[in-house]
Amino acid sequence: MAPEPVNVREFQQLAKEKLPKMYYDFYAGGAEDESTLKENMEAFRRITLRPRVLVDVSRINMSTNILGYRISAPIMIAPTAFQKLAHPQGEVGTAKAAAASNTIMVLSFNSSCSFEEVASSCNAVRFFQLYVHKRRDVTAAIVERAEKLGYKALVVTVDVPRIGRREADIRNKMVSPKLKNFDGLFSTEHKSDTGSSLETYVSQTRDASLQWKDIAWFKSITNLPILVKGILTGEDAIKAVEAGVAGIIVSNHGGRQLDCSPATISVLEEVVHATKGKIPVLVDGGVRRGTDIFKALALGAQAILVGRPVVFGLAAKGEAGVRQVIEMLKTELELTMALSGCPTVKDITRNHVKTERERL
Ligand code: FNR
Repeated sequence: MAPEPVNVREFQQLAKEKLPKMYYDFYAGGAEDESTLKENMEAFRRITLRPRVLVDVSRINMSTNILGYRISAPIMIAPTAFQKLAHPQGEVGTAKAAAASNTIMVLSFNSSCSFEEVASSCNAVRFFQLYVHKRRDVTAAIVERAEKLGYKALVVTVDVPRIGRREADIRNKMVSPKLKNFDGLFSTEHKSDTGSSLETYVSQTRDASLQWKDIAWFKSITNLPILVKGILTGEDAIKAVEAGVAGIIVSNHGGRQLDCSPATISVLEEVVHATKGKIPVLVDGGVRRGTDIFKALALGAQAILVGRPVVFGLAAKGEAGVRQVIEMLKTELELTMALSGCPTVKDITRNHVKTERERL
């Protein structure tokens, strides 16, 4: 048995001990050689801090605003699929932990609990992540349903026109589970004798023809603010601003899509500069420490999101595990702010970090 975790990374071992191999590999794995998966974390390590001293840090305030919602710290929950494979509580457990920690949960389109169950389970601010179905009427109906259920923003994930080659899932013949959310609409349940059935699910349903001009269509069917998730270049950040989205999430899908795409922390600043402060920029990928969060804020992110640590917390201990993961990150961020001379998140500036390039 792994000992009681003292940091979020240690939840991974607990999860590994609890989960069937097929599910653990699905959560932990990345695409192809997993270069991007590893680089997401390594790139954080290469950034150093420039702490300032003799600043009054007797009180630290981590709270921040995301699209007008006040949260306790700049830490949000990224959308991750099929959470009942991790724990019977599934997304309801995660949502309750989000409410208890006063943060925002982004619910995955591929959630195993229904959108309705998650909505009624707690009073956390919830955003809704969308994958776009080939049939526009199906997508429009789902967006309308999410809006009616009180989800506060639409997070359109744009980096999965096709699914990345996740070799562990192919080897394990990962089975795509049935999702009751889509009963009567389409089937998510597939079996494959030759590889991952997730690939079949995605290729049969996903609209790979989606383009920037389609953002106008989303705006025509919903009043919700729209964030695009999966931006990695300044060029696309400019297009996002031109399309009129409310925010950007810099993401490489946790290294699960295009291997050899850059670590998100290494392109964050390029994206922030391109937006010229017109819309908020969030980032996910490889955040495992409070120092990582501090670095992301110094490079211009308004908040970060965590994916795998939340799933591993859920697998290990259900809602309590997710809560522990978020609280550990908060504790570490608070200490980092105190030791760097930053009593509030607004005090964290570009001068508080040095990138590898700047040290050469
Ligand atoms: C994901 N991610 C994801 N993203 C999304 O937009 N919709 C989804 O359904 C999923 N599902 C999913 C499942 C699992 C198991 C993982 C690990 C990830 C990507 C996720 O939102 C986020 O971008 C990454 O997880 C961030 O990287 P870290 O925090 O896992 O390193």
